Amino acid sequence: MCGIVGAVAERNVVEILLEGLKRLEYRGYDSAGVALLEQDGSLTRIRRTGKVQELVDAVAQGSALGTTGIAHTRWATHGGVTEANAHPHFSSERVAVVHNGIIENYQSLRESLREKGYTFTSDTDTESIAHSVHEELKAGASLLLAVQNSVKQFHGAYGTVIMDREDPSRLVVARSGSPLVIGLGLGENFIASDQMALLPVTRRFIFLEEGDVAEITRREVTVFDKDGQLVEREVIESNVEHDAGDKAGYRHYMLKEIHEQPTVVRNALKGRLGEKDIEADIFGAGADDIFAKVKHVQIIACGTSYHAGMTARYWLEQYANVSCGIEIASEFRYRKSVVHENSLLVTISQSGETADTLAALRLAKELGYMSSLTICNVLGSSLVRESDLAFMTKAGAEIGVASTKAFTTQLTAFLMLTIALGKHNGLSEEHKDNIITALHSLPSKLEETLAITQGIEDLAEEFADKNHSLFLGRGDQYPIAMEGALKLKEISYIHAEAYASGELKHGPLALIDEEMPVIVVAPNNELLEKLKSNVEEVRARGGIMYVFADKDAHFASDETMRVINVPHCESPIAPIIYTIPLQLLSYYVALIKGTDVDQPRNLAKSVTVE
Ligand code: G6P
Repeated sequence: MCGIVGAVAERNVVEILLEGLKRLEYRGYDSAGVALLEQDGSLTRIRRTGKVQELVDAVAQGSALGTTGIAHTRWATHGGVTEANAHPHFSSERVAVVHNGIIENYQSLRESLREKGYTFTSDTDTESIAHSVHEELKAGASLLLAVQNSVKQFHGAYGTVIMDREDPSRLVVARSGSPLVIGLGLGENFIASDQMALLPVTRRFIFLEEGDVAEITRREVTVFDKDGQLVEREVIESNVEHDAGDKAGYRHYMLKEIHEQPTVVRNALKGRLGEKDIEADIFGAGADDIFAKVKHVQIIACGTSYHAGMTARYWLEQYANVSCGIEIASEFRYRKSVVHENSLLVTISQSGETADTLAALRLAKELGYMSSLTICNVLGSSLVRESDLAFMTKAGAEIGVASTKAFTTQLTAFLMLTIALGKHNGLSEEHKDNIITALHSLPSKLEETLAITQGIEDLAEEFADKNHSLFLGRGDQYPIAMEGALKLKEISYIHAEAYASGELKHGPLALIDEEMPVIVVAPNNELLEKLKSNVEEVRARGGIMYVFADKDAHFASDETMRVINVPHCESPIAPIIYTIPLQLLSYYVALIKGTDVDQPRNLAKSVTVE
């Protein structure tokens, strides 16, 4: 989704801004632009549709130079993908604005600004921010006050940065709904929508809170809260690796991130998994006291994180004996739901900024949930700040839009949560020991599983010319089948559906023919015989199957079925292990199809608007 970078420095900031935009490319965008306050007092703007590289090339043709500047990658919401709609937007060559989010009342703002004589040169909601601020400046307000007054008129979500040609030493920024992070330098300061953009220049960050407006100069950062009160915000030292943006020799970030899974899962377990038990309070100070009272868990998430939550429901009910509901955040937030007694709300998010998940958390607080926990990958993100308890998944920066290592660390976290909650609800010693033993074996099992890559590359060849596919699983492998289908559609654009295989007879069997490959995940568990019957149903209708199976499950390849053996693993970690071949399958199919693996069309890494 849209990205913002801004800087106030003594040096020329062009390179910092462009490098920042490149580091935000992974979030998804369709055009990019930069505006600079030049030494001679003029305001320069360069914008391009397409990739950031086109903007970089355009900048290189001129001699843009400025010590204060803002830059943006746009993901179109209001108005098509055109240069005129790309940010920064200007008001009369004086005010420059970049904006993430949506100003919902932009139509009425436009009308009243037109009446005041402003001309609009784009179809965006953002341009009304520029003119509103300009109007305040004309009335004599400082840039800070102009922004504080203007934002009072805005309904919707915004992370916005504003620059005034007549006050070149500062940027004023405002946050409501779309994240912004201030980067602190030495004699220079920065702003961005994501810390990744600023890691080459600083590791010290202030994460702005809802309603904050801040003034940034070279030497000072001043933050005001939603009531206009001066506030001190905590400075956080980032633990994200500076080189997280490197592909480390891999062809794509996604492949690198798939291969990082043994390491990041090891990190997620470190200091949390003891020899025979999990450590105390790993879900936050006081978590165990809260967990002792929990009678019901409600999980809320979107996308891949939702699939982690679906898997967790099987575990929480099967092992921990805790009732559990799971819902997509965008549904939960707009329907009336019943809150069970002593309910814990669990949100899951790699980014910690997904608009629907955040809105669901805020709603849950009003509804009276006993407590909230987030399982999240980004320290300092909104979900982490606004939840009572937080568990950091420690997957490191995930750049590929299609989530891989964030997912497997989320599942790892949920196995530990199963133990933490199960202790108070009748988790048997046998199940606890099984989960602990399985978790200890998890990093090395992931390594073993990654070693089957070659077989999957070959399989992808057979697959790549298909237009549709069906993924099947049962029990806690059903959400894994759904995640496999999601990965395939996200990056290869092949239509993929997932079904719990017991549901085959109720519709999907009608689709089976040799043009519809069927992918089956088949660990050796108590549902294996049932699954085998489902496989026979597909075979009887002439379906072609690709079965990822435990070798002890005794599937054999023949003319209608290709079997890929997956290393044997303990049952609790099987969903994590079987995720790996499905990730690899979609990756290699996408590679053959030549799609943009890391930045698939129309998708964004972090969906910060509704
Ligand atoms: C986007 C991303 C997905 C992600 C989903 C939820 O659609 O492309 O990879 O699963 O958002 O994001 P979250 O950050 O809340 O996990």
